[in-house]
Amino acid sequence: MPLITMKQVMADSLKKALDPNVDPKERYAVGAFNFSTIPEMVGIVEGAREAKSPVIMMLSLGALKYIGSLELVAATARGIAKQYPEVPFVLHLDHATDLEMIKHAVVCGFTNVMIDASSESFETNIAKSKEIADFAHKHSPYGINGCSVEAELGMLAGHEDNINVSEEDAGKAYTDPALVAEFVEKTGIDALAVAIGTAHGFYKAAPEIKFDLLAEIRKNTDTALVLHGGTGVPEEDFRKCVAMGMSKINVGTGLKKVYTDAVREAIATLPADEYDPRKIVGPGRKAIAAEIAAKSEFFNCAGKADAVLKSIY
Ligand code: 13P
Repeated sequence: MPLITMKQVMADSLKKALDPNVDPKERYAVGAFNFSTIPEMVGIVEGAREAKSPVIMMLSLGALKYIGSLELVAATARGIAKQYPEVPFVLHLDHATDLEMIKHAVVCGFTNVMIDASSESFETNIAKSKEIADFAHKHSPYGINGCSVEAELGMLAGHEDNINVSEEDAGKAYTDPALVAEFVEKTGIDALAVAIGTAHGFYKAAPEIKFDLLAEIRKNTDTALVLHGGTGVPEEDFRKCVAMGMSKINVGTGLKKVYTDAVREAIATLPADEYDPRKIVGPGRKAIAAEIAAKSEFFNCAGKADAVLKSIY
């Protein structure tokens, strides 16, 4: 199966999020996970296969700098899609700001791109997000609408790769529910990242998610909603966000820790004359897969791969 777009992977989730007659317990969000190496990419898809869930894998700008090439990542993702045809998955460029670079990702075959102009004025955020939505919907090698687009309104605090937003700056900028409909309509984006109290990176204290704000935002737009800063969010808060209509949940930092902890443990337990890198990296990849499967349960997307595929084909 080819890579699919974020719009496609979330269509079933969004339908359930918007239908007031759906039991909130039936709703689900698709997990989106950052990677910076090929074993992590494979681990993500293997975890989704185990959970029979759809999945989104995300390349941050920091990871791109490390890997060095959008083409290499896109070709690898295409290869993985061929290898794991039962997993509906999306290749996403995360928090990108350079318009030319984002367009290049579209042309290389990313199936979702995020334009993050959230630190700019409302008008500039609209103009840049619209430029990317117009381009991505027309210029994917997979055809018209072969790439979807996420943008952000409001600002999340925290530190992760290229993202550095102080709590003071972010606190001033939760997503304003009154601006959401205009933003979505004027930009033509497919999903909206919202700032409702989560932050990137590890939390010093448990996050205080503004559920009343989420309810208002959900009421004001029909577009898919995205929760960033999933690391350290308590399980019951994930479940509440999903029940209230969140369709995509991003996790980055926590997954890095899972991978690194497993690799550290492998190194500590291997004999000193063991030099096979697969014995070091392999446990990291397995640990990632287990974490994806566990998160799929929290997001209620375990077992939803078939529903996603049916909604597309
Ligand atoms: P965390 O690193 O806090 O999980 O956030 C990831 C994220 O939102 C990537 O966009």
